[in-house]
Amino acid sequence: MKPYLKESEWSIIEEGFDPEKHEISESIFSIGNGHMGQRANFEETYTGKSLQGSYLAGVYYPDKTRVGWWKNGYPEYFAKVLNATNWIGLNIVVEGQTLDLNKVKVSGFLRELNMKEGYLSRKFTAEFPNGNQIKVTATRFVSMAQKEIGALEYTIEPMNFSGTMSVTSYLDGDIKNKDANYDEKFWDPVLSEVKDHSGTVIVKTKKLDFHVCSTMETRFSLNNNPIDVLAEGYNREKYAGISYEVPLETGKVTTIYKYVANVTNRDYKIDELKMVSEKEVKQALAKGFHQLKSEQREAWALKWRDSDIEIKGDVAAQQGIRFNIFQLNQTYTGEDDRLNIGPKGFTGEKYGGSTYWDTEAYCLPFYLATADQKIARNLLIYRKKHLEKAIENARKLGFEKGALYPMVTMNGEECHNEWEITFEEIHRNGAIAYAIYNYVNYTGDKTYLKEHGIEVLVEISRFWEERVNYVPHKKVYMILGVTGPNEYDNNVNNNWYTNRIASWTLEYTLYVLDYLKDVDRKKYEYWLDKLKVKDEETKKWVDIISNMYYPIDKKAGIYLQQDGYLDKEQIYVKDLDPKHLPLNQNWSWDRILRSCFIKQADVLQGMYFLNNEFDLETKKRNFDFYEPRTVHESSLSPCVHSILACELGYKDKAYEMYLRTARLDLDNYNNDTEDGCHITSMAGTWMSVVEGFGGFKVINDNIVLNPFIPGQWKSFSFKVLFRGARLHVQVDQEMITITNETDLSVKMAVLGEHYDLKGNSTITLTH
Ligand code: BGC
Repeated sequence: MKPYLKESEWSIIEEGFDPEKHEISESIFSIGNGHMGQRANFEETYTGKSLQGSYLAGVYYPDKTRVGWWKNGYPEYFAKVLNATNWIGLNIVVEGQTLDLNKVKVSGFLRELNMKEGYLSRKFTAEFPNGNQIKVTATRFVSMAQKEIGALEYTIEPMNFSGTMSVTSYLDGDIKNKDANYDEKFWDPVLSEVKDHSGTVIVKTKKLDFHVCSTMETRFSLNNNPIDVLAEGYNREKYAGISYEVPLETGKVTTIYKYVANVTNRDYKIDELKMVSEKEVKQALAKGFHQLKSEQREAWALKWRDSDIEIKGDVAAQQGIRFNIFQLNQTYTGEDDRLNIGPKGFTGEKYGGSTYWDTEAYCLPFYLATADQKIARNLLIYRKKHLEKAIENARKLGFEKGALYPMVTMNGEECHNEWEITFEEIHRNGAIAYAIYNYVNYTGDKTYLKEHGIEVLVEISRFWEERVNYVPHKKVYMILGVTGPNEYDNNVNNNWYTNRIASWTLEYTLYVLDYLKDVDRKKYEYWLDKLKVKDEETKKWVDIISNMYYPIDKKAGIYLQQDGYLDKEQIYVKDLDPKHLPLNQNWSWDRILRSCFIKQADVLQGMYFLNNEFDLETKKRNFDFYEPRTVHESSLSPCVHSILACELGYKDKAYEMYLRTARLDLDNYNNDTEDGCHITSMAGTWMSVVEGFGGFKVINDNIVLNPFIPGQWKSFSFKVLFRGARLHVQVDQEMITITNETDLSVKMAVLGEHYDLKGNSTITLTH
């Protein structure tokens, strides 16, 4: 699809209304605040193609699994993020004609997502079939400062007539998930009520008893002066609406303000919900739209202070990275350790808003470097809290010990039901262990290991111990029948990445046990006793580490993705007729499985994680071999390739991969943005600037920077929070400038030279 959004440094802009692109824009222009999110649906009635979507963090539904052939071990249900009460609704009827952009003539349409200040706005002129014209503007946001509040301002100006309009401001809880397995509705009514200018709807889920309570207040003004308009309330099951009769006069602007509080029983007792939501919405009303909006601006200014990346000389790249950072900050704010990051965030339903290995493998570094340390810690705690469920999951699959974390989850239980993923993509367990290492390495917070980390590591290690199998005649351990990160190959033997990350987990667990023994004998013994870690068990781990089998091809000097990979016909992606791409939309699954084409980084994922284990030549040989065979049909793929390409000095490849990850949704590369944005891969985009172009790493408690700048850019800069300090790193074509914006001094190595950067000081060097 031809890109249709205007390039701009701080905004996403769509000029002109194209109904064919509306669902894509609904995803891209979504707003969220960690507590809730809303697709960019229109406030007024719209009968064209649209996915009405309003989502609340942590409110999900266990939809009964749907499969053709049931296999033992499948979960009973697939948790879905719930499409909840539509709170933005305004039904507008002008002189008896409904405002519906599918039915009127639209001109001057402009939609803008202001990322700097965190709001969505829209303006257009509508001409009704009878020739009446109105000018409309609409602005809305979900508040970062008052998490349960959404607010909107909607103005209407008649251009060539005077008359009356009826506005119905409503809450509609009679909502269905587009992806419901059996076309079922998941919400039951609890209460709907209208009183004066206020309306409340409470709905609850048919299972799990999630209650969502929404309360609205609506107000009007004429040419900026508050006015009272005749109101009539109406409610029915799951619905509350208030209709207003508003006189319209040519050239005079009527403004509708709507404030809504959305609260759930995840945070309050069921019998308090109504009271809390009424209180919240009254507070918002008292502040008014403009104050709420300025609080929003301030809250976003703080987010940007710590996480902005500036790219000069390349607006497309600049817009791409800010869009990614904006969406990440909208999706997860980290205060609540029961929440996680769904691959589509609040922008769509696909992937069910559930947690994948994406969080540990891709998202953690972003939150580590741009937010308070406890936010990344909360992501680890989330998995710690699910340990019991992961142990149950392993038992359910027939393992006698250890924990297998689910591939997809809401509450710790597996809810994915494709055997090749659910049962075989066990590499995810390694990412969960790796995240603990990553967190501790970055923050230096070793207390995490003795408080929580060790328990998770031991249970994951036990799983690997049982999952490997010893092959006596070869005297090696193998892992058979897996799917690696590359999902375009299933049930393979000895996926190099899986074997390596399994063995690495055992190494790290043993290291952590030794570390605890050294620093806190009491705690060490406590855990040994609690987890019943036996000598023979750790000896077995040592044996597995020493005798793990790794497939390699000596001639090419590469690690083999799996046994037999080279038996496939070897073709490069560049030699494919582009009409075959993306393969997953053009080829049968059978053809994909037989081909050598790789969906996403696999061996290279290992080289990214365990980067320091490999010398540059080894990374180069593997990159040169695998990248040309990779179709990057997972959004998670280009970023890892971009980072490695930077390290290898492949400037053009690094830039190409960067643009692909940064503008994946804006340019709809994978032709699927209408389902929602690829939120988890957005953290990968951040990594490709900071870890890729910035060459940023933390090694032995010190920052390491090896920046390189693409020729297309004048300069780029990023922020990192590191152990209490905030650094600003600016790279232009000749110079690198690093400013320590805090009082603490920071040790670092830049291009191999060591520096001790004192608080509030700057170093500048040439490169
Ligand atoms: C990728 C997985 C990923 C999932 C969710 C899939 O396409 O292959 O690695 O976990 O998407 O983002």
